[in-house]
Amino acid sequence: MNKLYFGDNLEILREMPDERVHLICTDPPFNSGRDYNAFIGDSLAQKKAFTDTWTYDTAAQDTRADIEHRAHTSNTYKALDTCLKGYDLVLQNAVSGNKGATRAYLAFMGPRLAEMHRILKDTGSLYLHCDPTASHYLKGIMDAIWDQDNRSKNAFFQNEIVWCYGGRGMSKTRFNRKHDTILFYGKTKHMFFSPEGASRPVAEEHVGRYNKTDEQGRKYARIKNRDGTYSDIYLSDVVREDWWEMPYVRGNESLGYPTQKPRALYERMIKASSNEGDIVLDPFCGCGTTIDAAHTLKRQWLGIDITILALDPMRQRLADRHGLEPSVDYHIEGYPTNMQEVDKLLKEGDKRKYHDFSNWAVTRLGLKPTKDVGDGGHDGVGHATLWNPQVMKETNARILAEVKTGKPSLTQVRAFCQVMHENNAEIGIFITLESISAGMRQQAENMGSFTHNGRNYPRLQFWQIDEAYFENPDIINTLVRLPDTWRIRPTQKSERHFDNKQMHLLRG
Ligand SMILES: C[S@@+](CC[C@H](N)C(=O)[O-])C[C@H]1O[C@@H](n2cnc3c(N)ncnc32)[C@H](O)[C@@H]1O
Repeated sequence: MNKLYFGDNLEILREMPDERVHLICTDPPFNSGRDYNAFIGDSLAQKKAFTDTWTYDTAAQDTRADIEHRAHTSNTYKALDTCLKGYDLVLQNAVSGNKGATRAYLAFMGPRLAEMHRILKDTGSLYLHCDPTASHYLKGIMDAIWDQDNRSKNAFFQNEIVWCYGGRGMSKTRFNRKHDTILFYGKTKHMFFSPEGASRPVAEEHVGRYNKTDEQGRKYARIKNRDGTYSDIYLSDVVREDWWEMPYVRGNESLGYPTQKPRALYERMIKASSNEGDIVLDPFCGCGTTIDAAHTLKRQWLGIDITILALDPMRQRLADRHGLEPSVDYHIEGYPTNMQEVDKLLKEGDKRKYHDFSNWAVTRLGLKPTKDVGDGGHDGVGHATLWNPQVMKETNARILAEVKTGKPSLTQVRAFCQVMHENNAEIGIFITLESISAGMRQQAENMGSFTHNGRNYPRLQFWQIDEAYFENPDIINTLVRLPDTWRIRPTQKSERHFDNKQMHLLRG
């Protein structure tokens, strides 16, 4: 049951049946106007993980046309369409600037919220993590969708939870922005809520005040009122405020994924609104905070993210914290595991798809994706620490990679050699989908070799990705020769469960 999907969540949500999940906890892009870089290990190793800048472009217009079309047959989309048209007036139909960006962002979020509403069970809830940039607009959309039949006033909206993370801030012109907003909605009045699960632990020094116990074993304090009467205050009620003080991700918990949230935050939502065995979904799951929290609390889980970059930290996290193995303990869908899927990934003509492919390829070599494509540099970098027993010393080696999806040219290979020189790289891997010419091989010969522990490794190597790699991922160790202490991560054979349906989704 537990599953990670790689792809656009709208398509994947639309494939899910009605009333499928018990709980959705999710943290989408906030319309922050920023592009996030994943700082993975060192400053060189950054790569755009995802962008959070929005423009009211043709894609946004198409989405709006689609919403309008669906509004003819669906009450949910009708409510959404009406709400967005109202916002159009508020935002003056702007196509650029903040107002245009907000319209584009809301066109993106609207249908996803509509689908989330559809797949929630009657007893289910949704926690939407956002911040004051757009939380007020999102609440309007959710109110419209959730109360599409205008049945009961404010019955579905439960709380605006304020997550206060504190910390220092530098603003001299306003108060420092140190909180996020989490909108909590129940699907119907039958929504499940556990008061015990929702309560935070009371500070130890205050527990002693609640020194009475009722017949059900609940602790309470008896307080004398001014008029001489008494009131009973239950321990669990005191600690269920709608503002939660919790620090941001710290120390070992940090995986270096931009916008990673603390696990404790998501554990609290899951404890409050689900039972063991329930299905928890995060359609914007990033490096898997909700997934990790759900697994810790013995819930089933489904995670979706659009970027391949999220997949490796998530897999690592599930392995390290829970000993989970893909294909054995959970499934991954939407990950290129044969050449047909690689072609499909690239044929989209979308720069982002290229990023994903290039990220996937360099991470197979155990390298870290670097900066942006088209920077004339390289797509992957790694620093191998090599132990040299002869001199009883560690040495460092820099390994670079470059990915070319079109027909590679000798000029490109030479340019990469230049990049290797400039970056003092010991080894460079030139990754292609098409074959390498004799001239390129000669260029590699000319680069000579790198010696470690008495072994020679060609300084410039080629890895042509073809079907043979997917048939036997270990072949990478013969195609590319790196010092033994370097860890190459071939796609696991057992990860091949990218079915045709998913292929269709990726094609969009
Ligand atoms: C704010 S981050 C989530 C971080 C997550 N809560 C964590 O702790 O790691 C938002 C995520 O949404 C993903 N995303 C953006 N657009 C998406 C889409 N259309 N479908 C699926 N995921 C998407 C991004 O790749 C990013 O990982």
